[in-house]
Amino acid sequence: MVIVLVFLVVLGQEVYGNKEQCENHAVKAKLFDAICSEIKQTRTKSEGFVGGASHNDSGSQVNMLCVPTQPQYAINNKKADNHPWLGGTIYSMHQMDTPNTALDQSKYTLYGIPCTVCRARDKTSVIMIPGRKECTSDWEKEYNGYLFGGNPKFKSGSEYVCIDEVPERRKKATSWSEKPILKPVHSKCNEVMPCPPFIDGRVLTCVVCSK
Ligand SMILES: *[C@@H]1O[C@H](CO)[C@@H](O)[C@H](O)[C@H]1NC(C)=O
Repeated sequence: MVIVLVFLVVLGQEVYGNKEQCENHAVKAKLFDAICSEIKQTRTKSEGFVGGASHNDSGSQVNMLCVPTQPQYAINNKKADNHPWLGGTIYSMHQMDTPNTALDQSKYTLYGIPCTVCRARDKTSVIMIPGRKECTSDWEKEYNGYLFGGNPKFKSGSEYVCIDEVPERRKKATSWSEKPILKPVHSKCNEVMPCPPFIDGRVLTCVVCSK
C-alpha cells in the first residue's frame, strides 16, 4: 500500500479495485483531485488503473502504482525501448479459480485492474491486516477482500496487496507478455506458520483498517 502523506499529517491510502470506497467515508487524495472531481460528476466506473512492470523481467520495479487514465506528458521528444516502463497490471486466478466469486477465472484472468486513491478523513493510521476480514472494534474498516501478489516462480519481485472482495476489472489482455500479474496468495505451512489454525494452500483474506 502506498501511503500518501498530506498536509496536517493526514494519512492517505491507496485502495485497489473499489470504486465505492471514497463515496463512503473517505475523501480522495489531492494527487487525484482533478480526476476525482470529474469522476464524481459523471460517476463513471474507475478512477485509475493498477500499473507496474513486467513479471518476466528480473530487474523490474516491484511497487504497483495507481495510475490516472489521463496522462499529462511534458518533455516528449524521445521514444525509448531500453528504459524502465510502466504498463497495466492483470489478474490471474489460476489454481484458485472459483466460479461466480471474486476468484472467478473466466471473469477476471487477463483483465486489467482498476484502482482509486482515497484519503481517510481525520485518520492518522492505515493498516492492512492479512488473513482477516474484520477490523478490531477500535478501527474502522475501509474495505476487505483477498490478498494478492506476484507468482514467486516469475522472474520479477512483487509486493502483497489487498484487492476488494468484489473486484472490478478493466479491458482484457490477449497475452501474458509484458504484464505485471497479480494472483491470489495462499497460506503456507512452513514449520513456523501456526497451522492450525492456518491451513496450507488456502487463499488468504485481508482487510484495510483506519483509525
Ligand atoms: C519471458 O522472457 C523470455 C526471455 O527471457 C521469453 O522467451 C518468454 O517468451 C517471456 N514470457 C512471457 C510470458 O512474456
